[in-house]
Amino acid sequence: MIKKCLFPVAGYGTRFLPATKAMPKEMLPVVNKPLVQYGVEEAIEAGLNDIGMVTGRGKRAIADHFDVMYELEDQISGTSKEEYLTGIREVMGEASFSFTRQVEMRGLGDAILNGRRLIGDEPFGVVLSDDLCIADGEGVMAQMVKLYKQFRCSIVAIQEVPEDQLHKFGVIAGEKIKDGLYQITDMVEKPTAEEAPSNLAIIGRYILTPDIFDIIEDTPPGKNGEVQITDALMTQAKNGCVLAYKFKGKRFDCGSVEGFVDATNYVFNNIYNA
Ligand code: G1P
Repeated sequence: MIKKCLFPVAGYGTRFLPATKAMPKEMLPVVNKPLVQYGVEEAIEAGLNDIGMVTGRGKRAIADHFDVMYELEDQISGTSKEEYLTGIREVMGEASFSFTRQVEMRGLGDAILNGRRLIGDEPFGVVLSDDLCIADGEGVMAQMVKLYKQFRCSIVAIQEVPEDQLHKFGVIAGEKIKDGLYQITDMVEKPTAEEAPSNLAIIGRYILTPDIFDIIEDTPPGKNGEVQITDALMTQAKNGCVLAYKFKGKRFDCGSVEGFVDATNYVFNNIYNA
């Protein structure tokens, strides 16, 4: 029903320079696993086994990560070290990977539009892997797929953030449908505290219906001169329905050094060492 998940992974990761000068930010390891693998595992858990990546120059390590490394695997075959590959081998066994390249960085909306050929005419998930989401029970994408099955419209994940942080996010306003679920009435990309319609910020998990592609095509560049998915979703909300879902779990902004360190400590203490 909903099988595909798009990963926009073409961004430069400027907030993490110099680490990201020659290495994709999505390959930064949280403890011993690259960020993008956490995102892919979350998608697979939600039943989205068809992974599409919108990549760019300098991002080949991501495609290599989800491929066999014959020489390395031959070297450690039969030794105790082989067990370190168990997790990534499972991921590779359960998902298929397709890649397309975004030639110019024109914003998240444009990156998603670049994935159109990989997605086709189906609803799909979007994971921004620098938002690392960790839930106690089922993952955030799985929570959203459940909602999609009920409501059949685009859904964004949201969380409450302090006022002085709102300028980093798309921010929504909505009518409450039930606890933790809103029908969106307004959305602003990276507002000032005065412009912000609420304290509910979009985080990097979306389920989108495929009509979003035509809408993005007609969406002019917005904030920072980029084609914003937030603006396209606002059009979709005006024409029909877009939901905002306060997900259950924690989110770490691994595109920033502070969030990355917090995520590392959390995963080390609560998952790796648990
Ligand atoms: C993007 C979106 C923004 C959203 C954020 C979540 O911004 O444009 O609406 O709140 O992801 O992480 P970015 O962080 O890529 O600038």
